[in-house]
Amino acid sequence: MQRVYNFSAGPATLPLEVLERVQRELVCYEDWGMSVLEISHRDPRYVEILDETTSRIARLLGVSDDFEILFLQGGSRLQFTMIPMNLLTAGPAQYVLTGTWGKNSLAEAKKIGAVEVAWDGELDGYSRLPAAEEWTAADGASYVHITSNETIQGVQFAEFPETGDVPVVCDASSDFLSRPMPMSRLGLVYACAQKNSGPAGVTLVVIRKELLKRCRDDLPGYLNYANHAKAGSLWNTPSTFGIYVVGLVARWLEEEMGGLAAVDRVNREKAAMLYEIIDSSDGFYRGHARADCRSLMNVTFRLDSPEREASFLAGAQERGMVALKGHRSVGGIRASIYNAMPRAGVERLAEWMEEFRRRS
Ligand SMILES: Cc1ncc(COP(=O)(O)O)c(C=O)c1O
Repeated sequence: MQRVYNFSAGPATLPLEVLERVQRELVCYEDWGMSVLEISHRDPRYVEILDETTSRIARLLGVSDDFEILFLQGGSRLQFTMIPMNLLTAGPAQYVLTGTWGKNSLAEAKKIGAVEVAWDGELDGYSRLPAAEEWTAADGASYVHITSNETIQGVQFAEFPETGDVPVVCDASSDFLSRPMPMSRLGLVYACAQKNSGPAGVTLVVIRKELLKRCRDDLPGYLNYANHAKAGSLWNTPSTFGIYVVGLVARWLEEEMGGLAAVDRVNREKAAMLYEIIDSSDGFYRGHARADCRSLMNVTFRLDSPEREASFLAGAQERGMVALKGHRSVGGIRASIYNAMPRAGVERLAEWMEEFRRRS
C-alpha cells in the first residue's frame, strides 16, 4: 500500500516516524506487557508519559511555571463555551472575527455572557486581518478572543495584537506548535490536536495560572479549568492514547525538527512554494487571502470555474495527492500543509499546479 500526500485540514497527516513508532509500540509498550491503550490513566507508568508530554510542550512553547498545560476533550468547540464560562467575569469579552471559526466561537460565547465584536472582516470576505489602528481592546474587557489561523479562509496573524492589561485568548487550533508564539503576551491558547499536534480526541489548553483564579466553584465540574489544573489533567479519564501520540509528535518536533523556530522556517519555505506559483500565474490561480495575511498552514485559492477546479482535483488525486477540496462553505482549493506535510508533498503539488496551468 502506497501512502498518499494528504492535504486534509484535519484530522490531518501525521509524521510517518510517529505512525511507525505507534505501530511498533502498540501491542506491547516497552516492558509493560500491555498496550498504552490498556493501562490505567493513574498508573505511574502512564503518568510518566503524560508528564513527559507536558514538559515537551512547555519547552517547545518556552513557557514556565506561569502556565498550566491541560489535556482536555470535546474539541475546540467545547472551548468556545468553556472560555466564557470560566473567564467572562469582568467587562464584555471582545471577539476579533477573521473567519468562520471566530464567528462560531462568538456564537457560543453569546449564550454565556456579554460579548462585543471588536472587529469583523466579513465585508472583505474574511480575506484579511485588521491593521493595528482598526481596533483596540476596550478597557475592562474580560478578554480578547482571536483565531491565530482561520483554517477555512486561510488567513493567519503574523504578529499578535497588543492589548495592554486585557488577556488575549487565542484559538490556535490550526497553527499550534507550527511556530514560536509570544506566550508572555497571551492568557490562554487552545487547540484541538488533530491538525498539527496529534490525533482527534485531545484538546490542548495552555492557560496562565493567574487566570485560573477566575474559575467559579459553581461551574459544572468538567467545565471548570481549575479542576483540571488541580488534577493534572486527570480529573476524569483523559484521552490516554491521544495524549501519548501528542507526546510522540512533540518529541518529533523537538528532536527531529529542532524546535519551533526551525519548524517555522520549513513551514515558510513550503508555503512560499505554493504562493509563488499563485502570484506568478497571471490570475490563473486566485488566492483567497490578501498577500500580507496569508496562512502558512492552509493555502486557499480558486480557479476560474468549478469544472476546472474539479479537473485540478482529479489530476491531483491521480498523482497521489488527496483532500485538496476547499471547505464546503467557500469552495475552491485548500492545501493544508501542516508541520507533518513533507516538503516533497508540497513540491509535488507545486509541480502539478505548474503542469495544470500549462495544459489548460
Ligand atoms: C480554527 C479552528 N477552531 C476550531 C475548530 C473546531 O475544532 P473541533 O472540531 O475539534 O471542535 C477547528 C476545526 O476545524 C478550527 O480549524
